[in-house]
Amino acid sequence: MSKFIIEGPVKLSGEIDVKGAKNSALKIIPAAILSAKTIHITNLPNIEDIDKSLSLIADLGAEVKRDKSTVTIDPSGINKTELNPVFANKFRASIMFVGPLLARFGEVTFHQPGGCVIGASGRPIDLFIEGFGCLGAEIKYTEEEFYHLKAKKLTGCNYFFNVVSVTATEAMMMTAVLAQGTTTLQNCAMEPEIKSLADYLNKQGAKITGAGTPTIIIEGVDEINAGEFEIIPDRIETGSFAIMAAATRSDIIIKNCHPDHTRVLLNIFNKIGVPFTESKDTLHIKPTDKIKPYSIKTHEYPGFPTDLQSPYTILMTQAEGSSLIHETIYDRRLLYVDMLSQMGADIIMCDPHRIVINGPNQLYGKKLTSPDLRAGITMVISGLIAKGATEIDNIYQIDRGYEDIDGRLRALGADIKRIGTLNL
Ligand code: UD1
Repeated sequence: MSKFIIEGPVKLSGEIDVKGAKNSALKIIPAAILSAKTIHITNLPNIEDIDKSLSLIADLGAEVKRDKSTVTIDPSGINKTELNPVFANKFRASIMFVGPLLARFGEVTFHQPGGCVIGASGRPIDLFIEGFGCLGAEIKYTEEEFYHLKAKKLTGCNYFFNVVSVTATEAMMMTAVLAQGTTTLQNCAMEPEIKSLADYLNKQGAKITGAGTPTIIIEGVDEINAGEFEIIPDRIETGSFAIMAAATRSDIIIKNCHPDHTRVLLNIFNKIGVPFTESKDTLHIKPTDKIKPYSIKTHEYPGFPTDLQSPYTILMTQAEGSSLIHETIYDRRLLYVDMLSQMGADIIMCDPHRIVINGPNQLYGKKLTSPDLRAGITMVISGLIAKGATEIDNIYQIDRGYEDIDGRLRALGADIKRIGTLNL
């Protein structure tokens, strides 16, 4: 198993490029199934979750040709409607293949998906199942935890999401594209990745309006095309790098990003005294002496993203005063806090969803294990702030979402070594 060893503290400087958004690419790849034509995707991040997604579509019979950050997928040879559990169970986003297979082939079989362990009872898929049922799919669930979904022809429906969910919104939107008639989705998630998926589908002939708002309307069409699509920049990488710069009091230019997609974080930077300038696709974070505390509550977009909650916590360990972090989306997303306490952070766990941080704290290097993807990048940031050596195990969890993170941080001046091979 490979690990990182980071020597800190360090001030970073230079430029870092943001890669394509993992959470967009993981939806555009399965969207290829909606058409028999070839799709060419650019700005693809070179990370483990994308490899898994491409392996899964190849296993269904698609021809996949990858060259670094681009991929061409020819789905005309797809000859299976069963998601191979060997590939599908390794990542939660495999659920994104279900809707397109059902929409184009009228049936699909799959096992309950895996992924980050950040929800109390795993991560439910009840909204997907209910939504596919609303579109007319007949659903069977076996003792071996396989779902069989069938529909001769899907029909448009009105569906209201009782819980705001990114992937469930995207799944219903993709599936309804080939349904007969009009589908109205209410209480939808509004993340930029959803708008981007709608832009791709509309470019290929789908009729979707309202993506990026709580109500999305899809007029079903008989078929769609496929073509070129560029993945939008990863807003969580952008935010993670911005927080890393602020926490290490560094001068970093973050390039190829959409600052507007991290507006809530930038508004908070204004309040806590982190100086920055921005242009359409660049963010320049400048060093500061004093960071003020500021409490946050995670919220669906455009609120504070749960995926930036743990990096923000590390920033608050460097702020002068107390702040409250309230994680409202997931039940098990504060598990990393113990590790920060071991490093010297003064953090009180109020209940499974809330912590109070009393800063500023000098952190000291420790041996850590990354529990999930976003906590993993937090450990990296904490290693850059801490005095001495920080050793991070289970970095597979970081490689899943951040391309060549050690190489890119070394280019900014970080002393970070990878022991073992890249987990790709
Ligand atoms: C997506 C992102 C993930 C991010 C999360 C929240 C992808 C591949 N992943 O995850 O990085 O952390 O949004 O921004 O895009 N829920 C249900 N039933 C369902 C589905 C979800 O109750 O059928 C609940 C979840 O338990 C959670 C909430 O809805 O409490 C939000 O989850 P959701 O938006 O679905 O997150 P993901 O789509 O899994």
